[in-house]
Amino acid sequence: MTTDNMKIPAVALGTWAWGDSGSSGDGYFGSTLTQTDLEELADRAHAAGFTLWDTAVVYGMGRSETVLGEVLKRFARSDFQLSTKFTPQAAGAGDDPMADMLEQSLARLGTDYIDLYWIHNPGDVARWTPHLIPLLESGKIKHVGLSNHNLSQIVQANQILGDAGYSVEAIQNHYSLLHRNSDQNGILDFCTKEGIPFFAYMVLEQGALTGKYNPQNPLPEGSNRAQAYNAKLPQMKSLTDRLGSIGRSYGAEAPDVAVAWAIAKGATPIIGVTKPNHIDGLDRAAAIVLSNDDIVELEALALAANLDTRGWWEQEM
Ligand SMILES: NC(=O)c1ccc[n+]([C@@H]2O[C@H](COP(=O)([O-])OP(=O)(O)OC[C@H]3O[C@@H](n4cnc5c(N)ncnc54)[C@H](OP(=O)(O)O)[C@@H]3O)[C@@H](O)[C@H]2O)c1
Repeated sequence: MTTDNMKIPAVALGTWAWGDSGSSGDGYFGSTLTQTDLEELADRAHAAGFTLWDTAVVYGMGRSETVLGEVLKRFARSDFQLSTKFTPQAAGAGDDPMADMLEQSLARLGTDYIDLYWIHNPGDVARWTPHLIPLLESGKIKHVGLSNHNLSQIVQANQILGDAGYSVEAIQNHYSLLHRNSDQNGILDFCTKEGIPFFAYMVLEQGALTGKYNPQNPLPEGSNRAQAYNAKLPQMKSLTDRLGSIGRSYGAEAPDVAVAWAIAKGATPIIGVTKPNHIDGLDRAAAIVLSNDDIVELEALALAANLDTRGWWEQEM
């Protein structure tokens, strides 16, 4: 199986923060989201051609999938692609925990297939990778990817899938100006060489790189992202200021430039959208072609910030 029939827009849409919505949301982002806003957001996204939606069981423990399924009811199933994940660390005790978790995702998303199904974090590669094969054979998942795996784990999984006539068809890692491990450990090069799409998550460092937040206007108090980033905001200022000024020269804004940077590096950014106007930003970002000088300068400022933004769930790679 190849990626020939997997439609990949310039930017994919992330919905981790959607796990916060409603009374059962878990407050990870400290966001207040309404169904009406999310429906407007989805309408704008589809009008702009952004139709690949990324979620996971563990985003609000099912809440993100449920809300996304509700919001996407307004479109024909053939008009969007769904990406969700098997998280080994949340596997149940049944005979086939991956098949069980997939069934629950399908029910929450209101669909009978997933376009792109991921192993979310490496558990035991030899144990979990083979579970993907019957799900591919059944057609319940169309394509498979790996997230947060290091290069040797990716090669090992590719070998297991290859023996069954399949392959790893996408990689998804944390990749931003402030977190470029996939450059340093060879994963991005590997993807380019093998023709495997590389999806970059947390390109905006959960909002901290947008320039909207600063010590006077910090990330929402009590949220996990506040805990992860608020103390780091002063060190990000030179970078976010420059993202903003480059943005203005393109008639755009700081987050648009951060997204354009990821696109320039060959990645497909997955951007966690929470407001309808975020789609306008993605539209602008997709049209920006950064100069080499802009890229070199932004990367130097990011390096000078000297910050470690690795998520608590990410292994050292
Ligand atoms: N595989 C994995 O382990 C993994 C891990 C993390 C994330 N992901 C995926 O990647 C997606 C993206 O990551 P993320 O959501 O954690 O963080 P992100 O995309 O770096 O940042 C999202 C936050 O940035 C702000 N934002 C988004 N678009 C904006 C725009 N155009 N202009 C201004 N602000 C904007 C929003 O904050 P406000 O709501 O405060 O405005 C939003 O909550 C996730 O939703 C998820 O699908 C995967």
